[in-house]
Amino acid sequence: MKIAFGADHAGLELKNTLMAHAQEQGYEVKDYGCYEKVSVDYPKYGFLVGKAVANGECDLGVVVCGTGAGISIAANKVKGVRAVACSEPYTARMCREHNNANVLGIGARVVGDELAKAILDAYLSASFLGDRHARRVNMLIEIDESGDLAAAYEG
Ligand code: RB5
Repeated sequence: MKIAFGADHAGLELKNTLMAHAQEQGYEVKDYGCYEKVSVDYPKYGFLVGKAVANGECDLGVVVCGTGAGISIAANKVKGVRAVACSEPYTARMCREHNNANVLGIGARVVGDELAKAILDAYLSASFLGDRHARRVNMLIEIDESGDLAAAYEG
């Protein structure tokens, strides 16, 4: 499994730490930047990771900024992306099991390194449960693709 990583300046160090952690566990990783500790704009890196996941270049993505919020919003602007910013392992597991989240957001100013690793582990070791959750995720996909939700009007 190949994982795309991206971060702004606030998330750079944690992104590198998490990338090494994922590699140690046998995951293939691809780094979409940023690469230096100079102020950059998080939408670029959320977009690059979102695009890599949406076009199949990578299976999952991890995005890191100060809060995990801005860079997740950016990733979510790419069609096909379901990014969730998580600050504890429970949500990280559930967003994969129930929401089939394909991008994980983390806030480097919110969680420390060890908690961030535990969040990533929970996310990567979970898998989508399908069944009733597939119906709901399909509704998310419909909104994403058509900007509407016919299923909601069907009752
Ligand atoms: C950068 O200062 C900060 O705004 C950014 O890392 C992120 O937290 C935005 O959501």
